[in-house]
Amino acid sequence: MEKKQFNILVIEDNEGDFLLVEEFLYEKFEEVNLNHAKNSRQAIDVLSAKSVPFDVILLDLSLPDRTGISLIYQVISVCADVPVIVLTGYDDFDFGIKSLSLGVSDYLLKDELTSLTLYKSIVYSSERKKITSALEASEKRARNYAKQLNDALEDERLRIAREIHDDLGQQFSGLKMSLSALKRLNGSKSEMEEIIDSMIGDVNTSIHSLRQIANELRPVILDKLGLFAAIEWLVSGFEKKNAIECHIQITDLMITLDKVQEINVFRICQEAFTNISKHSGASEVEVLIEKRYGELVLRIADNGKGIDETNVQKSLSMGLINMQERANFIGATLNIDSTPGTGSNIILTIPLNDNKNINS
Ligand SMILES: Nc1ncnc2c1ncn2[C@@H]1O[C@H](COP(=O)(O)OP(=O)(O)OP(=O)(O)O)[C@@H](O)[C@H]1O
Ligand SMILES: [Mg+2]
Repeated sequence: MEKKQFNILVIEDNEGDFLLVEEFLYEKFEEVNLNHAKNSRQAIDVLSAKSVPFDVILLDLSLPDRTGISLIYQVISVCADVPVIVLTGYDDFDFGIKSLSLGVSDYLLKDELTSLTLYKSIVYSSERKKITSALEASEKRARNYAKQLNDALEDERLRIAREIHDDLGQQFSGLKMSLSALKRLNGSKSEMEEIIDSMIGDVNTSIHSLRQIANELRPVILDKLGLFAAIEWLVSGFEKKNAIECHIQITDLMITLDKVQEINVFRICQEAFTNISKHSGASEVEVLIEKRYGELVLRIADNGKGIDETNVQKSLSMGLINMQERANFIGATLNIDSTPGTGSNIILTIPLNDNKNINS
């Protein structure tokens, strides 16, 4: 006999079936608090009003006001944390499997029901749900933490880039002006002039390096001209540095993403291009950005050797994982499609907020 008190909701319109379930439950559970709803409307009322959560819901799949999949969706939508066990007369194994994939914990046929099968199913489902809920909560915490780290990293990069550009950059420019003034004052004393010229040369190189560092930390073009201009800039820099032919096609320049989406999409592209340069051996890259059915689709395809899954699994590297995480942060999906020998395809699909992109 089970000692813990079980709060159970039985959603069942057939009085005879309910009495049978009730009898089975009282036979196996010492402490059971039973609630009964006879249709889906009543069930939703009970679920919405209940202050103490149910341990389990037993759900008949054919109610007078709702049946089948739509009933499952409705019940799960109001009580995602409670295990739902479907009890039905449908002798339909395929439907049973399908209901499990919809989030149902177990599927029992009424004709084969015994107090023991019902008892086991309730106890197992309840324990399983506790474990999966704890896992989901921990995964959510880990994702939130990763997101906060990622945001903090981007903020920090932005801060450092600004400081390099505004503070150090200004100081070096000031130094260069002072050196030029000194050179003028010095007249034509040639030895001194040579030294000053060489110092001006060093300062120029430092200014150039600082700009480059700041730009790598946070490309100015992304904030000033937006994502598409920044991707074009990235592609043209990549083409020059790597001697790999690149083609870029953007079909709709009016689409706008928010700042967090923009920086994450840009970082995904940066990693994709770094990977192409490091690993692919490609001679050509194609970038396509287009709007499709309310989504922005970005595709980066190379004609290199393709991504070898065994390399990915063996490697401790973070590039592809970070790309996936960044896509998750912004509610996008990232598919990496590659067969060895035929190159790789990175496809990022970002749902568009249609209010902002109403004309696109
Ligand atoms: N475009 C590509 N073509 C061929 N192989 C690739 C490509 N992109 C990634 N790979 C393979 O996938 C592996 C994992 O990529 P990932 O970006 O995660 O790591 P990495 O580039 O090796 O290191 P990191 O990005 O952490 O500096 C690479 O080591 C490489 O074998
Ligand atoms: Mg990489």
